[in-house]
Amino acid sequence: MNESSITGDSISKLRDAKSVVILTGAGISAESGIPTFRGEDGLWKKYRAEELATPWAFERDPALVWEWYDWRRGIIHTKKPNPAHYVVTNMENRYPKFTLVTQNVDGLHKASGTKNILEVHGCIWNIRCIKCNTETENYDVPIGKIPPVCECGGLLRPGVVWFGESLPSEVLTKTMKALEVCDLLFVIGTSAYVQPAASFPIMAKQNGAFVVEINKEKTPLSEYVDLQLTGPAGVILPELERKIWKA
Ligand code: OAD
Repeated sequence: MNESSITGDSISKLRDAKSVVILTGAGISAESGIPTFRGEDGLWKKYRAEELATPWAFERDPALVWEWYDWRRGIIHTKKPNPAHYVVTNMENRYPKFTLVTQNVDGLHKASGTKNILEVHGCIWNIRCIKCNTETENYDVPIGKIPPVCECGGLLRPGVVWFGESLPSEVLTKTMKALEVCDLLFVIGTSAYVQPAASFPIMAKQNGAFVVEINKEKTPLSEYVDLQLTGPAGVILPELERKIWKA
């Protein structure tokens, strides 16, 4: 099934679900003013990922990588959660079992009050020493001396997952467990190009979940989902919330 409107049957599926996973990507933060990666104004149209978001780039030129992350931290720290983030937070309180899996590193889900968050690509507000592996939260904007250095003398790196790196294993294990047991999955604002996150909806569907996609455009996932809602997440999610819960 692949619909563009919400029927009574899907409303009850959404309302009566017991175990829910929401997977989000950069699109949910677009209406907060944070650039996405792909698409016309996407970051990867202006910058080369392999020069900025890989372990090899950091090895070659840590200062360049840090300048880019410092610039992004500077943008993100002025931004606030939008209505889509808040509906996600409300959903956490409405469903008996709820897990948010986000590819976003911006911290806006936490800022909107969502609690059970799995950050599969890490967080831009974490920094980690490449020598002693200590990871700490750091909200300094600007970061200060570039590249920053740990007390142990090792270089500090952004606590995010780069291309060519594995997802944090504990986070991945928890994500797999949530996908195994969920009866409803929302996929919001992701182009579904980057693995393994792009496969999460397929896994949930194979495990029997009802899958809803919310995106401004069609994606490679669109033909597999049970319900496709096209439009900005900040408009669609509040509408959906009103329809499901008469909120
Ligand atoms: P992308 O930039 O690839 O995709 C953003 C998606 O959001 C697109 O499908 C847009 O159509 C959609 N979109 C844009 N604005 C929207 C809105 N207001 N409402 C709903 N949808 C909207 O971002 P991701 O899929 O998150 O990884 O990218 C995945 C990963 O690629 C990122 O986590 C990052 C990037 O390289 C790393 O840095 C490791």
